[in-house]
Amino acid sequence: MPHRAPGSPGPTKPEHYLTGKAITYYRPQGSADVRQLIDGGFQAFNAGRLSEACQIFSERMLAPENDTTIGLTVAGALTPAGLGGCVIELMERGLIDFIISTGANLYHDLHYALNFTLHRGSPFLDDVELYEQGIIRIYDVLFPATVLLETDSYIRDFLVRSQLSGPIPTSELHYRLGLDLLQRYPGSEEYSVVARAAKTGVPIYTSSPGDSSIGMNVAYHELMNGSTLMIDPNRDVNEICAIILAGKKNGCVILGGGSPKNFYLQGQPTLWEVYGIPKGGNDFFIQITTDQVVWGGLSGATPAEAVSWGKVNPGVLPDTVVAYCDSTIAFPLFCEYAVGSKNGRRPRKELVRKRDQLVADLLKQAKEARENAPRIDAEPAEIDRHR
Ligand SMILES: NC(=O)c1ccc[n+]([C@@H]2O[C@H](COP(=O)([O-])OP(=O)(O)OC[C@H]3O[C@@H](n4cnc5c(N)ncnc54)[C@H](O)[C@@H]3O)[C@@H](O)[C@H]2O)c1
Repeated sequence: MPHRAPGSPGPTKPEHYLTGKAITYYRPQGSADVRQLIDGGFQAFNAGRLSEACQIFSERMLAPENDTTIGLTVAGALTPAGLGGCVIELMERGLIDFIISTGANLYHDLHYALNFTLHRGSPFLDDVELYEQGIIRIYDVLFPATVLLETDSYIRDFLVRSQLSGPIPTSELHYRLGLDLLQRYPGSEEYSVVARAAKTGVPIYTSSPGDSSIGMNVAYHELMNGSTLMIDPNRDVNEICAIILAGKKNGCVILGGGSPKNFYLQGQPTLWEVYGIPKGGNDFFIQITTDQVVWGGLSGATPAEAVSWGKVNPGVLPDTVVAYCDSTIAFPLFCEYAVGSKNGRRPRKELVRKRDQLVADLLKQAKEARENAPRIDAEPAEIDRHR
């Protein structure tokens, strides 16, 4: 087969692969029927766990008296599958305060912002033929490879226009990207998580900045344009840690697993183990995943295992749950339930504008902790992990 890049014209027209309906961002509306199904019909096994997750989120995490700082972590190809609308609705209503996502989900979100169309298709296609036709497949989601090329081109233009330079956290990169979308594509906040996050002040982090087409284009910008822009993961670690430290209570909704899950959960060990500030672990933990505990990896690790690391408060296991479900099914149901609950709207924390202050507070408390720390040669028993 002659070598060529996907996206260049093949021998026949690719249109017949792209006749499926456009994938759109479904926005949950708080359906009473869905709430009835989850409360009354989802009773046992993983339906029962999902029902529990809905109740913990809506009744406990969102309860005004708890004022929980909530992190959403996103792994798996969820924006290509149209789940960005759920995230947009949660941000708009103040139901999540920050996001940690794979770069892929943010990159593919940009297609929607730029008004490209991803199509419903089939997972049972001839991939060699798709390659020849310049069609990209993500399981059963299909789109022309030109969407990748044009999205990449937008990212590179943005990097040049933004004049971003030096080390910056991913929260700043995504915030600036979102502001650029809002300015250049008015209304894109209805179709893009990145744009809506900038509008609602929700910081978005990525745990593996080099591992996506956004990171690939940042690398291009350095090599080809001599840019000094680089991602500073230290700043990400400290910002997330500072956000968690400032929370009255802390809780997470983990979709899939992967590195975003740990990037969130390591916030508590960063506090007690590294900075000597024992915050006490997460108060709430919800995971929707297909990952299994038996392989020993972090993606499948349970909230109980996280207790031993000081990631989850040992006293709160009833407020933790893992629902073993496909997030593309469970998450929209979860969001319908939350949106329709009595706590379905909260004041937004708008943390993106508070990051510097929060990191300054972390620094202050960390210095105080260091001054009061037990001597390094102290017996381990003298070091109290959980106040
Ligand atoms: N073009 C791009 O930019 C691009 C495309 C794809 C992946 N990537 C990168 O590759 C890395 C891996 O990405 P990834 O999305 O495969 O994540 P991942 O492999 O880190 O984690 C996904 C985890 O979530 C679980 N999961 C996946 N789909 C699920 C579902 N529908 N329901 C429940 N659980 C589910 C899986 O079991 C898996 O362990 C990331 O760093 C990403 O940015 C980049």
